Amino acid sequence: MADTIILVGFMGAGKTTVGRQLAKTTSKKFLDLDDAFVEDAGMTINEFMEEKGEQAFRQRETAVLERSLKTSAIISTGGGIVESKENRQVIADSKTTVVFLQADFSTVLQRLSSDTDRPLLRQLSMKALLDRFEYRQPLYRSVSDSVIMTKGKAPDKIVQELTEML
Ligand code: S3P
Repeated sequence: MADTIILVGFMGAGKTTVGRQLAKTTSKKFLDLDDAFVEDAGMTINEFMEEKGEQAFRQRETAVLERSLKTSAIISTGGGIVESKENRQVIADSKTTVVFLQADFSTVLQRLSSDTDRPLLRQLSMKALLDRFEYRQPLYRSVSDSVIMTKGKAPDKIVQELTEML
């Protein structure tokens, strides 16, 4: 198993829940990039995006990603991490194992139906959100060493699959 495991996938795919559990099982440190971002920026992602916009968010996200990769951990990323070419390169250059937690769009929507913390959910129409979802799928695949289909699986089961695979 690589020292650092990075989980990628769309919002609501279960990266944080699975990452936290995987960290416990493997006795590794858990690091959530969104939390690291909030700590770094001193404001919530909602506030940051509202004040500075998505592009500024992506730039700062790269810096947080690079810094986070200095420690060995199970890292759960934000769903948009693959949008920037720079981030994809940083991930490719890292000596980590990257796993794509693949969820289908309807499950994602169901999970996020009452969410108020994710700015893109508030800003984008359903069509624009679906476009983002589809646009990102090949990008998640392109940075990943393996893919786990999460449909119908409880986090326990996903963690079990991950530990067997890594
Ligand atoms: C985003 C996903 C969020 C967070 C931010 C932007 C995205 O992370 O980084 O709101 O662009 O998909 P989660 O995937 O952890 O929700």
